[in-house]
This record gives sequence, structure tokens and C-alpha cells, in this order.
Amino acid sequence: MAGETPWQTAAALEKAEAPTFDTSVAHIARVYNYWLGGKDNYAADRAAGDRTMAEYPGIVASARANRAFLRRAVRFLVTGAGVRQFLDVGTGIPTSDNTHEVAQSLAPQSRIVYVDNDPVVLAHARALLTSTPEGVTDYVDADLREPGPILAHAAQTLDFSRPVAIMLLAVLQLVGDDEPYRVVADLLAAVPPGSYLVLSHPTSDLQQDQVTAMVAQLNHLVAEKVTTRDRDQVARFFTGLELVEPGLVNVSEWRPDANGPAEMPAALWVGVARKP
Ligand SMILES: C[S@@+](CC[C@H](N)C(=O)[O-])C[C@H]1O[C@@H](n2cnc3c(N)ncnc32)[C@H](O)[C@@H]1O
Repeated sequence: MAGETPWQTAAALEKAEAPTFDTSVAHIARVYNYWLGGKDNYAADRAAGDRTMAEYPGIVASARANRAFLRRAVRFLVTGAGVRQFLDVGTGIPTSDNTHEVAQSLAPQSRIVYVDNDPVVLAHARALLTSTPEGVTDYVDADLREPGPILAHAAQTLDFSRPVAIMLLAVLQLVGDDEPYRVVADLLAAVPPGSYLVLSHPTSDLQQDQVTAMVAQLNHLVAEKVTTRDRDQVARFFTGLELVEPGLVNVSEWRPDANGPAEMPAALWVGVARKP
């Protein structure tokens, strides 16, 4: 329709009525919230969560390990790489230690743009917009399969002549076939050298039988289709980039906290890489 934009800005959200959504069908953002012990989920999400946990009890530890990786990766980017701008795509329902909270606790001037296409995340967007006075957070209601509008909106908040960390955590499995490779390439093409890609991706080449059974359940019960990828397929996302140490590894092996809890290996490959 003429005049319509494919995304909703944070300012538009202020004026918008509360989004409506169908709670009778499980959605991945709410199932993930349930795995993490959150309260922003409905009976269908909890049923799907319970069925998948029965197939693969390690999913709860995997989800927690993924969030712990987000914390460690953002801390590394701020303190070890000097990054002050973040584009967090597939944000999820706000939980503890969201990207802006971790980044701005270390560098208050950090600027963060969140992107998600789930109406429940949209309904909670204000919780993602609690920036420090020195920094900025913004939220874009958009589909990552169309990077153009995301980049156009993010450019209102982020300076694309300076490094940006593109965060794609536990989201590319929700885009099938080869499409996510195009999406990642388009996003990386928009940011300058010195920018970073942060990625985590569920896999079935670890804990294979249980994960395969869980994904079959998910694809039966949840609106979004999940595609796991093996290590080589995940490595392809980093083509042309410089992986920082320790490279593409199991989530438990990526710069574990010296004094933190020992992490269980989980069915996730993760990596952080610099655009040369
Ligand atoms: C499993 S959660 C991961 C949340 C967060 N990145 C994390 O790692 O904790 C996946 C999120 O991606 C969002 N998502 C799924 N498909 C998407 C798409 N095509 N465009 C934008 N967001 C999407 C879902 O709504 C959900 O909030």
C-alpha cells in the first residue's frame, strides 16, 4: 500500500495500540522464553516447550548458554574491540542482560538497534528502549529476510561509517535453505571494515539423536520452521571474515569466564569475526 513502510519505528510504537496475536499456536520467541524460565508465554508455548524438553533436556542449558555467550561476546566487543554500535537481529523477548544493558554498563554511549518480527517482542519493545542518557536504543519491527528496510531504519541511529557489531544469535535457524547466507552477506556489505559478526546457530552434529528428535517436535508444534546446520554450514557464514580466538566452537568453549560457572557443552556453534 502506498505510504506504508515495512517496519515500525519505536516512535510509531509509542502511538500504536497494543499488538494482537494468536496465542493458540506456539511461537519460537515465546517457547525460548519458556526454556529460559520467563513468564511471557502461553499454554501452547509451554506445551511445545515441555515436549521439546522431553526429547532433548539439554535445550534449557543450551538456551542459557546462548545468553551467556551473548554477554561474553558483547563484553569482548566493547572492552577488547572498541565497538560502540550494535545491530541485534532476532532480539527475542527481553530477558536479563539484553545487549544494550551489557554494552552500556561498560560503555554508556553505546548505540543499539534491535530487530525482531514477533508481535510479542514488539509488545515488550519498551523494555528494550531503556537507554543510558549518553547512548541510544531503538527497535525495528521487521523481517530479517529483507535486510534493506532494516539497514535503512538502523542508519537513523547507527553511523555506518564506523564499526557495527551485527548480532545474529539463535535466529538464522529460522530461515531455511540458502537464504540466510544472502541476508548475512547483505548486512555485512553495509558495514565498514572493523565491524564484527556475532553468530550462534543450533546444530544437530552435536548430541545428534536428541536434537534431531527435538527439532522434529518443534517443526510439528511451532509456527516457525527450524533448520539446523552442521559446522561446515555455519562456518560458511564467516566466509571472508577473520574469526577471533578461539574460532568457531561449541558455545561452552567461547572465552569461558575464568571465575564463572563451568558451561556444559550444548548443541550450538558460535563465533565472533571481524570484517577486514
Ligand atoms: C530463539 S530466539 C533468540 C533470541 C536472542 N537472539 C537470543 O539469542 O537470546 C529467536 C528470535 O528471532 C526472531 N525471529 C525469527 N524469525 C525472524 C525473522 N525472519 N525476522 C526477524 N526476527 C525473527 C523470533 O521472533 C525470536 O524472537
